Amino acid sequence: MTGKLIAGNWKMNGGLAANELLIKAVLAGLQTPACEVAVCVPAPYLAQTRALLAGSPIDVGAQDVSGHDSGAFTGEISAAMLKEFGVRYVIVGHSERRQHHGETDAGVADKAAKALAAGITPIVCVGETLAQREAGSTEAVVKRQLAAVIHANGHCISEIVVAYEPVWAIGTGQTASPEQAQQVHAVLRAQLKAASAQARRIQILYGGSMNAANAARLLGQSDIDGGLIGGASLKAADFLAIISAAV
Ligand code: PGA
Repeated sequence: MTGKLIAGNWKMNGGLAANELLIKAVLAGLQTPACEVAVCVPAPYLAQTRALLAGSPIDVGAQDVSGHDSGAFTGEISAAMLKEFGVRYVIVGHSERRQHHGETDAGVADKAAKALAAGITPIVCVGETLAQREAGSTEAVVKRQLAAVIHANGHCISEIVVAYEPVWAIGTGQTASPEQAQQVHAVLRAQLKAASAQARRIQILYGGSMNAANAARLLGQSDIDGGLIGGASLKAADFLAIISAAV
């Protein structure tokens, strides 16, 4: 197993002045982290973020990537473009994109493939809605979502990061219990192991209302290798506390 990864997902938040304040506050409070750290920022801020983080242990990430290489795809951003801005990670298949932008399992798999081909690590998000959990289909849903990515990227599947984000826990303050999260992570771990011997080392992050108060217990579970942090990544003190909990 590699170390843990704490990745902030700023979503559609920030501004030039606010970003600078936030990043400077995080860097000022950051001891040498025991884990990998990244911030996934809105695309227009990649250059600014890269400059502010230069020489620091924090990597730059993006929040989406096109499933195409180039051409007539107005509004899309290619993996090669992200690479030019020093992007190390890109979130793909976040539930907000699946829900509001009609992203399909196959489309998410294409995005992961383009990221991998450009040397960017895709953070592949999977997770069930409340209705799916209540219907007892959590395992089936997350396995189907991950299977599409494994199917399209089998040869380099060990290069991905997976994030389990129960949709009902995102931005709601309602976190999955450590036991609930661990149960799903174990299912995903088994699926990855079955796909490839190297895939046993893949980091599986938990996301969904992880905060300074609950991070240590979640990150203490045997198959939780880090966190994808939304709201709490916008507050330097909270993000730093989560990073310190990732040992
Ligand atoms: P949250 O978001 O931490 O605000 O719940 C997590 C995410 O959507 O990645």
